[in-house]
Amino acid sequence: AIGMTTVRDVREKAGTTPITMLTAYDATTAAVADEAGIDVLLVGDSMGNTDLGYDTTLPVTVDDVASRTAAVARGADEALVVADMPFLSVGVEEAESIENCGRMLKEADADAVKLESGDHTVELTERLVQLGIPVMAHLGLTPQRMKETGYARQGTTRDEGHRILDLARKHEDAGAFCLVLEHVPANLAAQVTDAVSVPTIGIGAGPDCDGQVLVVDDVLGLSPSAPPFAKQYGDLREQMRGAMAAYREEVESGAFPAEEHSHVADELDDLY
Ligand code: KIV
Ligand code: NA
Repeated sequence: AIGMTTVRDVREKAGTTPITMLTAYDATTAAVADEAGIDVLLVGDSMGNTDLGYDTTLPVTVDDVASRTAAVARGADEALVVADMPFLSVGVEEAESIENCGRMLKEADADAVKLESGDHTVELTERLVQLGIPVMAHLGLTPQRMKETGYARQGTTRDEGHRILDLARKHEDAGAFCLVLEHVPANLAAQVTDAVSVPTIGIGAGPDCDGQVLVVDDVLGLSPSAPPFAKQYGDLREQMRGAMAAYREEVESGAFPAEEHSHVADELDDLY
């Protein structure tokens, strides 16, 4: 992104006005979100579910995210663009992890990467930040682990709460500029937000985070089903179906195209 918004702006906004983040997977949506004043566009691996027709995020590739990130960066002038690293693209080998994250900045013009985080991403986060790749951490429900966790709320026991708090601190110390907290109790998210100096951005994590993120398809009413913590602000699926059906009906009835959609070149009369 040309990047009017920087990771520093996001850090500094925390505690003043809530940070707004939406997912985006294409240039048009990115441009509209930018016009709407959204601070951060996350090119989420949720594209697996929303755009690519998979049941989970697991099949999403580095190429998928790189190509969509490049499109979002071309579409957005103001928002910070964050590329979401897909399943097994980080955490296997350090060199490979760095190369995959680096591609998002070098090739796709991302401003930062997001890693589904855990014990395995603490050192990697530190290394990426040393190299100049800003990192957004992601704790709580991390859907790339759905084979293990399903989509259940996380951090519901005192032990799990301590573990998430500890991981949040470790990622702050490692240099993450921001933490996403997904599907955790609001009182845990509030305490994590107090405990760390970097902004927290919640999804299904209550009102006390420094910002909020939702999947854009859920916000626009494009998703066939949305999680209970999402809120629908539009009805695009219905509007799209209506527009498409109206088009079909007019083509079938001959109402489209009308005179104003056609042109006649007089010199082409009587060709045969
Ligand atoms: O992929 C995604 O959309 C995400 C957000 C829900 C945080 O990771
Ligand atoms: Na994701």
